Amino acid sequence: DMRRDHRVLGKALAVTLAYVWSQQGRAAALEVLEDANLQHSHVDISWLALDESPGAEPAARELRAAAEAGREWTRTRSGAAGEDRLDTVVPLLVGGELVGAVRLSESMAPRREYVRTSIVRAVSAAGLSVGVSAGLVLVLGFWFVGRPIRGLVQQARRIGAGDLSVRGGSRQHDEIGMLGRELDAMCDRLVEAGDRVAAETASRLAAMEQLRHAERLTTVGKLAAGVAHDLGTPLNVVLGRARMIASGEVTGDAARDNARIVAEQAERMAHTIRQLLDFARHRPAQRAVADLAPLVEQVHVLLTPLARKRNVHLRLETGERPCRAYVDAAQFQQALTNVVVNGIQAMHDGDLTVSLSQARRSAPDQPDRPPREHACVAVTDRGPGIPPDVLPRIFDPFFTTKEVGEGTGLGLSVAYGILRDHDGWIDVRSEPGGGACFSLWLPVEGP
Ligand SMILES: Nc1ncnc2c1ncn2[C@@H]1O[C@H](COP(=O)(O)OP(=O)(O)OP(=O)(O)O)[C@@H](O)[C@H]1O
Ligand SMILES: [Mg+2]
Repeated sequence: DMRRDHRVLGKALAVTLAYVWSQQGRAAALEVLEDANLQHSHVDISWLALDESPGAEPAARELRAAAEAGREWTRTRSGAAGEDRLDTVVPLLVGGELVGAVRLSESMAPRREYVRTSIVRAVSAAGLSVGVSAGLVLVLGFWFVGRPIRGLVQQARRIGAGDLSVRGGSRQHDEIGMLGRELDAMCDRLVEAGDRVAAETASRLAAMEQLRHAERLTTVGKLAAGVAHDLGTPLNVVLGRARMIASGEVTGDAARDNARIVAEQAERMAHTIRQLLDFARHRPAQRAVADLAPLVEQVHVLLTPLARKRNVHLRLETGERPCRAYVDAAQFQQALTNVVVNGIQAMHDGDLTVSLSQARRSAPDQPDRPPREHACVAVTDRGPGIPPDVLPRIFDPFFTTKEVGEGTGLGLSVAYGILRDHDGWIDVRSEPGGGACFSLWLPVEGP
C-alpha cells in the first residue's frame, strides 16, 4: 500500500513539477516541491539532483537506469533512529530529458503499528465471535439435542427395565423428535403385544387346565373300575350282616356287633368313594409348601383297589423325615397317579414300589447350575419295560401303545407338564424285560 501511495504521489508531483519547470524554471519547481513537503507531514519529500554528487547517492545509477526505462524506483532501508523507511524516487523528465528526481521517504513504523493493531483487533474479534458462537452452540445444543437425547436415554432405560408406561411426548420437528415419537409408538405396540401375549397365555393356561381336568376324569374312570371291584367285598359283608339282623337271626349283643360291622364297612366304602370324588373334583391351581409323604400315601390308598384288581401289590416306602416342596397338591397327585397307573397297567402281578427320597441334583436342562436338594418319588414296576424305539416318544401328547379306548396317550404328557410347572422334571430308566422306573423330581423347600 505504501509503495503504491508513494508511486501515485511521486508521479503526481513529477507531472506538476515538469509543468512548472518547463513554464517557470527550476527554482519555481523546487518551491512547489517544498510546499508539497510541508503539506505531507508524514512523508519527507525532497529533490534529488543527479548531477550534483553522483558518488554520494548510491542509487543514482539505478535511478538513471530506471528513469531511462521510464519507471520509478523504490527501496526500503534502516533509518537513523533504527526504524525501517521506504524510499521512492520518481524521475523527473522535462522535455524528454532527465533533470533530476523527486524523492519520497517515509518511516514504516506507523503503518506497521497500524497493521499490528489491526491484526490484534481482527484476532480478538474472531476469538470473541468464536467464543460467543461456541457458547451459543453449547446452549442451543444442550437445549435442542442434549436435553431431548437425555430424555430418550432415560425412556429407553425404563423401557429396558420393563416400564412401558413412560411416554416422551416429543413435539420437536427434527430427527430427535421423530426418534422420540417412534419410541412412544414402540411402547404402544409393546403394550399391545404384552396384552395380547397375556391374553393368549391366559387362554392357553385355561385350555391346559381343561385338558388336565379331562385327563383327570379319564383316570377317575380307571380308578372307578378298581373301586367298584373293591366295593364288592364290603358290600357283600354289609348285605349279609344286614340280612341277618333283618331276619332276626341275631339279636341283642350279636345284632349290635353286626350293626357295628355294617357301619364300619359302610364307612370304609364312603371313605373310598370320597377319595375318588375328591380326586375328580375340579380345583383352581393353588400351590403351597407341603410335605410330600402324605400326598404320596393318599395316591397309594386311591390306587390300591385298582392294583388289587390286577393282582399287583402296591408297596410304599416313605422316609422318616418330612420332604417339603412348593406344590399344587392335586396336580402333583395327578402326575404321580398317571405314572403309577401306567405301572399297574404294565403288570399282571408282583410288586410295584413307590418310594420317596431326597438327593442333590441339577435339572437336566440346566446342567451348569449347582446341584440343589430335590425330592424324588420313584415308581418302579416289574412290567415288560419300554422298548428303546418307544422310549423317546412316551411323553408326547396322544402317544399310546394301548388299544383304542384303553389309553388316550395323555397321562405322561400331562405328568411331564405338571412337573415342569413345578420347576421339576421326570426321568425314566427302562430295560426291555427289566421293568421301568419313573422318577418325579421336585425342588425341596426349607431344611
Ligand atoms: N410303566 C410302563 N411300562 C411300559 N410302558 C409304559 C409305562 N409307562 C408308559 N409306558 C408307555 O408309554 C405310553 C404313553 O403313556 P401315557 O401314560 O402317556 O399314555 P397311555 O397310558 O397309553 O394312555 P393314558 O395314560 O392317557 O390312558 C404308553 O402307551 C406305554 O406304551
Ligand atoms: Mg397312562
